[in-house]
Amino acid sequence: MGEDKIKQRAKRNRTLMIDESEVSSLKSRIVYDDGGDICYRDSVICGDMMAVMERLPDGFADLIIIDPPYNLSKDFGRVSFGAMADEEYKAYLEEWFPTVCRKLSPRGSLYMCGDWKCTSAMQEVIGRHLTVMNRITWGREKGRGATSNWKNSMEDIWYAVRDKNDYYYDVESVKVRRRVLAPYREEGKAKDWQESEEGRYRTTYPSNFWDDISIPFWSMKENTPHPTQKPEKLYAKLILASSREGDVVFDPFAGSGTAAVVAKKLGRHYCTIEIDERYCLYAAKRLMSAEKDKSIQGYADGVFWERNSSASQKKKK
Ligand SMILES: C[S@@+](CC[C@H](N)C(=O)[O-])C[C@H]1O[C@@H](n2cnc3c(N)ncnc32)[C@H](O)[C@@H]1O
Repeated sequence: MGEDKIKQRAKRNRTLMIDESEVSSLKSRIVYDDGGDICYRDSVICGDMMAVMERLPDGFADLIIIDPPYNLSKDFGRVSFGAMADEEYKAYLEEWFPTVCRKLSPRGSLYMCGDWKCTSAMQEVIGRHLTVMNRITWGREKGRGATSNWKNSMEDIWYAVRDKNDYYYDVESVKVRRRVLAPYREEGKAKDWQESEEGRYRTTYPSNFWDDISIPFWSMKENTPHPTQKPEKLYAKLILASSREGDVVFDPFAGSGTAAVVAKKLGRHYCTIEIDERYCLYAAKRLMSAEKDKSIQGYADGVFWERNSSASQKKKK
């Protein structure tokens, strides 16, 4: 685990690292797929999602969050992915998506993340198997600079349900708190906003455009060396809106385990699969920390705060 060695690093760098001395105890927290029966509840399963899913019960997941390899050339360590033609990428999605859908409960919801290049393939494939309810666009800010094209700094999260007449959605749990730039008063009283010690804020229902979430970076304690880790704050919104406490959240492409970690922090069960053992170890270590620390950066006081408001959030505590 050369790269994981705890090195001399910048003082404020909180990226999670794994020392050799922790490996065997973390391994004991992972379920290795040996082709036999699988204990899936609250498990990080190390194996190929296609093989593992065949042995998971149908309908067991109340919420499924999928962050698959996008149609880009990307090295995930154990698996490397090469950019392909759109039709080929659709065929790749069709290899596993119908099986994922079988794992969704009759009232369940599913989210799938993608970027501009693979999003239309995703919409088409999801639409063949479930009802697409919405497309959330996440303005993630950070993106690789490009001189001959627009910088890519957005992602889509497709939202779908099995039964559009019977699904769970709790909008009250995902309200957003933003600074009021032009505070409007009526007869001297604040209209639709609150003034308090922490400033002037308005708490509103969320739209399908999210600009309040940063990509995990080195000074955040949730950060790991995984190359495409999703923010806990983003998954917290999906989990709170579309599952109840005690429900099961399933993520077949775990990476560093964000879906499982956030599910655990929010009192849900989880099941997640990852082919690369090194990433399973990050997930196991994050889950261990989540036993004691349930905080999610950017989510405090039961609401999602806009970016760069941590000083105000602290005042509330
Ligand atoms: C986009 S990343 C997921 C990142 C994750 N959402 C997080 O927050 O860390 C996709 C992951 O899927 C894993 N993967 C790819 N093919 C797989 C397969 N067939 N079975 C299990 N995992 C796979 C890759 O190793 C990679 O870590």
